[in-house]
Amino acid sequence: MPAPYRRRSSPSPRPRAKHPRVDRHRLYEDAVQSADAELDVVERVLRRAGRPARALREDFCGTALLAATWVGRGPRRVAAAVDLDAGVLAWARRHRLPALGAAAGRLALRQADVRRGPRGPFDAILALNFSWQVFTTRAALRGYLASARRALRPGGALVLDAFGGWEALRPLREKRPLGGGAFYEWEQVSFDPITHRLRCAIHFRLPGGRRLDRAFAYDWRLWSLPEITELMAEAGLTAVEVLWDPTPEGAEPAYRPRRSAESQAGWLAYVVGRRPRG
Ligand SMILES: C[S@@+](CC[C@H](N)C(=O)[O-])C[C@H]1O[C@@H](n2cnc3c(N)ncnc32)[C@H](O)[C@@H]1O
Repeated sequence: MPAPYRRRSSPSPRPRAKHPRVDRHRLYEDAVQSADAELDVVERVLRRAGRPARALREDFCGTALLAATWVGRGPRRVAAAVDLDAGVLAWARRHRLPALGAAAGRLALRQADVRRGPRGPFDAILALNFSWQVFTTRAALRGYLASARRALRPGGALVLDAFGGWEALRPLREKRPLGGGAFYEWEQVSFDPITHRLRCAIHFRLPGGRRLDRAFAYDWRLWSLPEITELMAEAGLTAVEVLWDPTPEGAEPAYRPRRSAESQAGWLAYVVGRRPRG
């Protein structure tokens, strides 16, 4: 599993045989998001710490799929979804909120830099699909982590994901079927071993041979797990841990706290830090 995408237990049930109007946001969700599996990880983190699962902030929210799924999971749940991009928030307002019905009243969409996001307090803050890697210096990443800590309730959790392995450190292209004749393609365009700058892009191939090149493009610093855990601690987060999936390729993922792991061609992990209680 070299490229950073979630293993899914089953293909999306949404029919994809036709794309009358190509919607890159829907394609993105189908290709790289598994909201229920991700929220299960978050709920397990909160349960283990004896914390309630009520208020969530989804940082770098894009279409706000996670925040919307969260409020749909119970009438007492509330969420804020934060993104810089007015365009993707307009998409969420048009497509996501109406589908939520009354629960839409418990989801706030906010256009802001995540470092100046809503102050909560939140039980959990999520920054998934590696988006936090837009912060390319230690100072910038530490600043984001500290601002997230301040927006958490005491005992609340910040949950990030990370990817790595030796296949992450080189240019590559990987294709995966989405069903209905469509394909998702992950490209690592360039990797600089001195700066760890990783430029990557998502392309889609659509039924009938049409292509959607560079539907999304990213310019990230590929951070290592020890760098992230150290910066979390420097930002005042405690009980910092890495959730690792030791199950073999093809099995249902099961992320659990681990202090050490074997090197792999490609891996995904979650990194969790908590706001101190006192
Ligand atoms: C890869 S998408 C993440 C979508 C979704 N959260 C997911 O898990 O797949 C990254 C999003 O981060 C947003 N973004 C980038 N830098 C940001 C910042 N400093 N503050 C808020 N949003 C930012 C972009 O506008 C983009 O919508």
